[in-house]
Amino acid sequence: MQNSELTQFFPSSFTWGVATSAYQIEGAANEDGRGASIWDTFTHTKGKIIDGSTGDVACDHYHRYAEDVDLIASLNVDSYRFSIAWPRVQPLGEGAWNEAGFAFYSRLLDKLYEKNIAAHITLYHWDLPQALQDKGGWLNRETTVHFAEYAAEVARRFGHRAATIATHNEPWCTANLGHGNGQFAPGMADLKAAIQVSHHLLLSHGLAIQAMRAVNSPAKLGIVLNQWTATPATQSAADIHMAELEYARSVQWFMDPIFKGHYPQLALDNMDLAAFSVYPDDLKNIQQPIDFLGVNYYTRVFCSSDEPKIKPEGKLGFNDMGWEIYPEGLTDLLVGLHKEYKLPPIYITENGMAVADQLEHGKVHDQVRTDFIEMHLDALASAMRQGVNVQGYFYWSLMDNFEWNSGYAKRFGLVYVDYASQQRTLKSSGVWYRNFIAQNVLHA
Ligand code: NOJ
Repeated sequence: MQNSELTQFFPSSFTWGVATSAYQIEGAANEDGRGASIWDTFTHTKGKIIDGSTGDVACDHYHRYAEDVDLIASLNVDSYRFSIAWPRVQPLGEGAWNEAGFAFYSRLLDKLYEKNIAAHITLYHWDLPQALQDKGGWLNRETTVHFAEYAAEVARRFGHRAATIATHNEPWCTANLGHGNGQFAPGMADLKAAIQVSHHLLLSHGLAIQAMRAVNSPAKLGIVLNQWTATPATQSAADIHMAELEYARSVQWFMDPIFKGHYPQLALDNMDLAAFSVYPDDLKNIQQPIDFLGVNYYTRVFCSSDEPKIKPEGKLGFNDMGWEIYPEGLTDLLVGLHKEYKLPPIYITENGMAVADQLEHGKVHDQVRTDFIEMHLDALASAMRQGVNVQGYFYWSLMDNFEWNSGYAKRFGLVYVDYASQQRTLKSSGVWYRNFIAQNVLHA
């Protein structure tokens, strides 16, 4: 579709947004009673973060939130997705609430309301209170109960001030990068632990949904999953099997329990389940009706069993993280999900790319990011034309920020952040997004 056709495609009710997360932007790590999280511990451990950086200051959003909300409003978006730092509102992850922490999010919600921007809250974007990690973290079943209590408290306080509340962001990452290969906090490298953690994350999601329903939160409730299609490099049986297994272990592993009440057999058949502990009611607790599904889409996974591995051609290139740019994957993924599951409305809760942007004469020219967004919106439109119910799109991210173990080296923002001065500069992609939304709204 041409840009002009694309702007006329999306319905007037379509949600346009930008997304961030607490540890990646807030800073103020030791202020107003915030407790330590596993990401504080991890970033302060030598060798874990590529550039040795931490989220201690990040984008200083904790102090600049009002200016940042003005920036969000200037983009013409109607929605903002952010996360609450659990240790900011409950420093130990159990017991006492920290009123100063809740007050920060209340100020943020006030400012969003003033600007007519709907709030989309994520409860867990990876910053587990360190005190809970000291008791075993997500490997300890008790953490699921604490998480549900935290979720209920947020829903009680903010459920009427938010459009949506998502339990987890990308539990695949917490399980596999946090516990399977050690790239993310808490830095554990144990595949069996990763499987158990994924189960506890799902269980905590189900318990949290029930706890939030019990306080009659008017916000729509759901979860955000990172998903991809898996492409076999060749049509060999080995490559096809590898791709099916990859899809089962990543997408279906989280989708099946939530929507079908069981784990995917193919994944179970190929896993070491020796220490996998699932209680009789767990799957019933996980399979709770949800009001929306958040999908984060960045790239596809290319599956080659050959050595050396066959690499994707990358027709459209790769982003600065080395991820292939593959918009069709978004159409394929969504159409596939639509066929396989009885889905609630979907939000694309993240989509974006890292670019080695340069600030030159006060400007950032990132045409490649504009092209990326346009191609993905086109792919999204194609899925919607095939019957997938998608209600919104959030670009990741509002601004450059702390990209986990890649530190500040990777820039995903529509807004460039000069970390020395904390100056924000709208990139050319941001200008494009702003105009695109304006045209869309005009037409709609
Ligand atoms: C997914 C995560 O939710 C977000 O925190 C991260 O920055 C982006 N992907 C980009 O890697």
